[in-house]
Amino acid sequence: MWKPPQRIRHELPVLRSPNESEAGGARLFSPLTLASGLTLEQRSWVPAMVPWRATEDGLVTQDVLDWYGRFADGEPGVIVIEATGIRDMPSGPLLRIGHDRFLPGLGRLVETVHRRSRGKTRLFIQLIDFLRIRKRPPRERFLGQFLEVTDAHRQNLAERLEDDAWRNADEPTVRQRLLDLDDEGLDAVLDRRELEALRYGTRERVTDVQIPEVRDLPKVLPGLFAEAAERSKKAGFDGVELHYAHAYTMASFLSALNTRADGYGGPREQRLRLPLEVHRAARDRVGSAFSLGCRFLCDDIIEGGNRVDDATFFGVELAKAGMDFLSLSTGGKFEDAKQPKVGDAAYPYTGPSGYECMPTAVSDERGPFGRQIPKQAKIRAAIRAAGFSTPTVVAGGISTFDQAEAILAREEGDLIGAARQTLADPDWFKKLRLGRGAEIRRCIYSNYCEGLDQKHRQVTCQLWDREALDEPGAPLTDEGKRRLIPPPWA
Ligand SMILES: Cc1cc2nc3c(=O)[nH]c(=O)nc-3n(C[C@H](O)[C@H](O)[C@H](O)COP(=O)(O)O)c2cc1C
Ligand code: SF4
Repeated sequence: MWKPPQRIRHELPVLRSPNESEAGGARLFSPLTLASGLTLEQRSWVPAMVPWRATEDGLVTQDVLDWYGRFADGEPGVIVIEATGIRDMPSGPLLRIGHDRFLPGLGRLVETVHRRSRGKTRLFIQLIDFLRIRKRPPRERFLGQFLEVTDAHRQNLAERLEDDAWRNADEPTVRQRLLDLDDEGLDAVLDRRELEALRYGTRERVTDVQIPEVRDLPKVLPGLFAEAAERSKKAGFDGVELHYAHAYTMASFLSALNTRADGYGGPREQRLRLPLEVHRAARDRVGSAFSLGCRFLCDDIIEGGNRVDDATFFGVELAKAGMDFLSLSTGGKFEDAKQPKVGDAAYPYTGPSGYECMPTAVSDERGPFGRQIPKQAKIRAAIRAAGFSTPTVVAGGISTFDQAEAILAREEGDLIGAARQTLADPDWFKKLRLGRGAEIRRCIYSNYCEGLDQKHRQVTCQLWDREALDEPGAPLTDEGKRRLIPPPWA
């Protein structure tokens, strides 16, 4: 993973453990009622984390039930189920909700979380759409086979090689000449997208309106999201989080890089049009008494992307549209991702924007802990100034009681998102509430978990995945060397 050049290793913030009576009066453990009427018992929130435990067909497995059941043991206010695909098409071991056949498994998931949290945790599901991305091809296959040879290539070759005969060269001859070129030569002959396809793998963008499926996204997505939201309600979820963040379709519509000229790109108002239409369609299906919110970016981080001012505008408009909550994340984009190895696909959390999404303990002078809170607070303040009380969820390096209380006291956010700290210790909110904070296993912000996610391997935490491997019944990873869930809290 990318790290800031300063490479300063930061100590974890001091974890002060409140006693039970202080915790009892804490803001973190106070309830919050959403506009839908749903009451969250406390302000603790476990943001979506993909654990790669579904079947290849996107169905809920026992491992999925065990994973979320283990989070539910800690009784947080909300757990958001991982990004779940809204289309009925293969997408590897990611959960899916694009057909009614997914309902029984998802229903069992809801039942498991409600039961194991003793009815204290509300369960939301994150709904995602993403565009096609291909693996980085071998050079020989790309230039020898995949690349569509055009007259532009012939012309560029003629200019570069100062030989007009290339203007009429046949395809096999052009391909062979391209294969013989060095990197600099290819830079001169291929266009930007072709070079990207060669060096990173082909990646669709929302601006590729020459592709009919991309052109028609505004026609199909409201319906697909609405059906998925309706299924979520049928499965018994307490709410839905529309995924408008990171590298995926809806965030790409919001992005300042979206220059579509069909009324769904360009100025902010038009970039927001599809997200609003998706919300409207979903709301019409689930009604106002069902919790419906979204996750979007407080800053895209990438060059030419949205900044906090764009996000502030979106926040106010999404609140005005009637979202029940707004969850704020940061970065996580393809545009600055690391070059993948041949045979791998680019991964959106490998560049600076990925770092800002999930900052590690090795950081710059600002450090990783709550570094995006000022931007997230600005968005919340604008929403309040516009007269809306929509709660916001903050996230990014939060792992102590004092951090959470200070954010709530300063009104920088209304709900405290903690992903990796909850992966390190799913009981941590409960331990704080019971005055047993000294027993918390602290996340060290190493991003070992994220490295597994990147390779699409079952996600675990380095702090517990080699512990008590011989415990009877402890579920193990496919390779049999790591446990899949942390041991129970004694
Ligand atoms: C293994 C892993 C998987 C993640 N998957 C998702 C996801 O499916 N959807 C999402 O919005 N964010 C995802 N995230 C980002 C987290 O929700 C969160 O925003 C990020 O880790 C920063 O919060 P933290 O510092 O509390 O970990 C993932 C993070 C990790 C570590
Ligand atoms: S592997 Fe564990 S300790 Fe490391 S960042 Fe992930 S949750 Fe934290």
